[in-house]
Amino acid sequence: MPDCILNTPIKLGHHRLNNRIVLPPLTRQRSAQPGDIATDLMAEYYRQRASAGFMVSEGTQIEPRGQGYAWTPGIYSAAQIDGWRKVTAAVHAEGGVIFAQLWHVGRVSHNALQPGGAAPVAPSALPALQAKAFIETGPGVGELVQPPVPRALATLEIEELVGQYAQAARNALDAGFDGVEIHAANGYLINQFISAHSNIREDEYGGSLENRLRLLREIVEAVCKVVGPERLGVRFSPLFSGTDQDRVYIGLVEQDPHHTYIEAVKVLEASGIAYVSIAEADWENAPDLPETFRQAVRSTFSGRIIYAGRYTAERGARLVEAGLADLIAFGRPFIANPDLPQRIFNGWPLNALKAEGLYGGTRAGYVDYPVYAEPQ
Ligand code: PHB
Repeated sequence: MPDCILNTPIKLGHHRLNNRIVLPPLTRQRSAQPGDIATDLMAEYYRQRASAGFMVSEGTQIEPRGQGYAWTPGIYSAAQIDGWRKVTAAVHAEGGVIFAQLWHVGRVSHNALQPGGAAPVAPSALPALQAKAFIETGPGVGELVQPPVPRALATLEIEELVGQYAQAARNALDAGFDGVEIHAANGYLINQFISAHSNIREDEYGGSLENRLRLLREIVEAVCKVVGPERLGVRFSPLFSGTDQDRVYIGLVEQDPHHTYIEAVKVLEASGIAYVSIAEADWENAPDLPETFRQAVRSTFSGRIIYAGRYTAERGARLVEAGLADLIAFGRPFIANPDLPQRIFNGWPLNALKAEGLYGGTRAGYVDYPVYAEPQ
């Protein structure tokens, strides 16, 4: 697709992006142990993909309790900040732009991952029945496990949590990231507060939709004070639910997702943040997000809009041409094709995704996917 609309520049906050192809946040579980520290190998993986117009790091836990899968990298210790510096330096050397995805899994965790073996924290003591956490069972090996009943956060603990997001945002800038994305999707902590299925609190953080959106609002405002609105994005998943091999990550779908998430987008608009990223349902034959929802997002929000979820370049380009999206993220194709933008723009064939090394491991299935080479 030589004159693909995805191959046109666009402004995002302070940045002029070279194209509209996004590397979305993808869990790859390769941080150094102990300490959950980003590595040289991770820097190589991100460097290989830096021709994306815009990149978001894999989710990085803002505090120890925010981790739900072994070996995901954190962004709360000095060693972790140092580790991330290698990644951002590698991306910047290639002219790329990268934000850090700030992650807290809330109830989608396990005692084995929690400080002191405590129960995971959540808005309410309701377990995530369909999600799985992942714990280490030996060096480099682990298993998916059922998350236990979490402990409901006390009202006074929430202020501290908001402060942890702000501190993580400071750490991200310190590590050289160009900005941050707040993970409010896929059934994790902020999503758990938004959802009536997981939040039955009786304080000002539960009950009405306005109350269920309060944590999101407080975090957006606090992080905005640190990084500024032009360096901030938020990710939602209004209809998310997915499975990948035997790994399950089930989101929380509201009774009225349209109303819930347009109200959530209004929270972002009030702070004037740079973008909203929508993770769509991504299993085979998933329902499309309704066009009316896409139009309402566009008319509610004046920043950039990113969509992700099993897009082909053609389908993504159509959404941009229709004026409903600004950028399109490609997850699985970008894992398998480090030069994905060049392949799309030149009409070159794509490498197939391998199951090996998707989650955890070393180089195989991570940095060993070849760039395109002309047939001899
Ligand atoms: C996963 O590791 O399965 C996972 C992590 C973060 C997401 C979705 C899925 O947002």
